Amino acid sequence: MKKLAIVIGIIAAVVVAASVIALAQATLPGLVGEDVSPDGCLSCHRVTEDGRDHTMATMLQETHGRFSASRLADLAGCYTCHERRGDMAELMHAAHYAGEDNHFITRYNGYCTHCHSVDLASGAIGVKGK
Ligand code: HEC
Ligand code: HEC
Ligand code: HEC
Repeated sequence: MKKLAIVIGIIAAVVVAASVIALAQATLPGLVGEDVSPDGCLSCHRVTEDGRDHTMATMLQETHGRFSASRLADLAGCYTCHERRGDMAELMHAAHYAGEDNHFITRYNGYCTHCHSVDLASGAIGVKGK
């Protein structure tokens, strides 16, 4: 009887360990598992198949509408101003993580690797599209 309990205990421990590993794989897209946002910002900020406009130019219309469209088309465009300002990290982390019902978290699980790349060989961290 005792032996059976030990065997069941071991099986339970293995099942728990396996599901923890499976969970870790499912929650690190781009590192372990498929990169769900290979184009960084532009994987999400685009016109969707059903016609909804999530482009950065549209999202920033109110504050950046006066700037030329080419500087709002991609991250390189943003950096023509924000490199000098040195505020891109602060702005992007606030835009995607702050607030009660932030869709980056509630709809996209908030992964750092949506934007950041990690070179597993060197350990260097970058931003996709920069
Ligand atoms: C996985 C999808 C995803 C990726 C990748 C992503 N965003 Fe977003 N972004 C969102 C969502 C969702 C919101 C809206 C958040 C909310 O609910 O307020 C948002 C909001 C924004 C806003 C609006 C901020 C404001 O002041 O209203 C800007 C600008 C923006 N993102 C730029 C970027 C840039 C630049 C990158 C790349 C460095 C990027 N995003 C990557 C999904 C994404
Ligand atoms: C021509 C210069 C210029 C370009 C190009 C530019 N910005 Fe900005 N951005 C600014 C300035 C200036 C401010 C500060 C506005 C303020 O503080 O009133 C700002 C503020 C912001 C803010 C905070 C205010 C807000 O509107 O939510 C976000 C977020 C932002 N920029 C994102 C971006 C992104 C993403 C891009 C590229 C798609 C971009 N910016 C391109 C000049 C620029
Ligand atoms: C929406 C895109 C986006 C997401 C999501 C994101 N980052 Fe960033 N992060 C940036 C950008 C853009 C920079 C600025 C890089 C630069 O200018 O060289 C940055 C810079 C950084 C830096 C450099 C330090 C600094 O403040 O400049 C660190 C550390 C960092 N991010 C950590 C994280 C972590 C941890 C997460 C997940 C919790 C995360 N980031 C999620 C876009 C993002």
